[in-house]
Amino acid sequence: MSKKKIAVLASGRGTNLQSIIDGVKSGQINNAAIELVISDKKEAYALERAGNNGIEALWIDPGAFPGHAEYNNALLQEMHKREIDLVVLAGYMRILSEGFVKAYKDAIINIHPSLIPAFCGKGYYGERVHMEVLEYGAKVTGATVHFVDEGTDTGPIILQKAVEVDREDTVQSLAKRVLEVEHTLLPLAVDLYCRDRLRIQGRRVDIETE
Ligand code: GAR
Repeated sequence: MSKKKIAVLASGRGTNLQSIIDGVKSGQINNAAIELVISDKKEAYALERAGNNGIEALWIDPGAFPGHAEYNNALLQEMHKREIDLVVLAGYMRILSEGFVKAYKDAIINIHPSLIPAFCGKGYYGERVHMEVLEYGAKVTGATVHFVDEGTDTGPIILQKAVEVDREDTVQSLAKRVLEVEHTLLPLAVDLYCRDRLRIQGRRVDIETE
């Protein structure tokens, strides 16, 4: 099997990107090469992480395009140029266009900091998610890795893990514990994808064991 070429889209500090970089380096993620990291934010630390690890890093400014579709087409062009197989959204705070999602059908993975379908969808990103969990009084939250479809956080779920909410939790303490779980789930899901172990059956994703 030829190595899967991965592109990562990230808007921020990129700790989830780092978990994939480390996973490929340590051999936890098999059959994969990270070819490209793209950010919509010039100052995203994710771009520096890519550079520090010899991975091509691009800032593509959404403001330089007339609209959402044109920006996404530019992203798509970069993917096609490098024959990318898998797109990973690692803290990417934008919605992909329908055209992009269609072009990479069943080949885009997102990490979300809650147990989908709770605390997800439009407007639920980053710390806002944990704030809503605490305000709601939920006793359990967690992390989800899922395939991306045309909706927001609606694609088939690959992996999930729960995190208990403590009475004393703040947004920061909860985010920290959920992030630790994200860093275990995302490399696991990327490895399964790259070893061709994931089978999408309608809404369900079956994991083939060896
Ligand atoms: C992570 O918690 C990720 O799950 C979340 O943003 C954070 C990015 O952290 N993503 C979303 O909320 C997407 N809806 P990172 O930049 O350190 O990986």
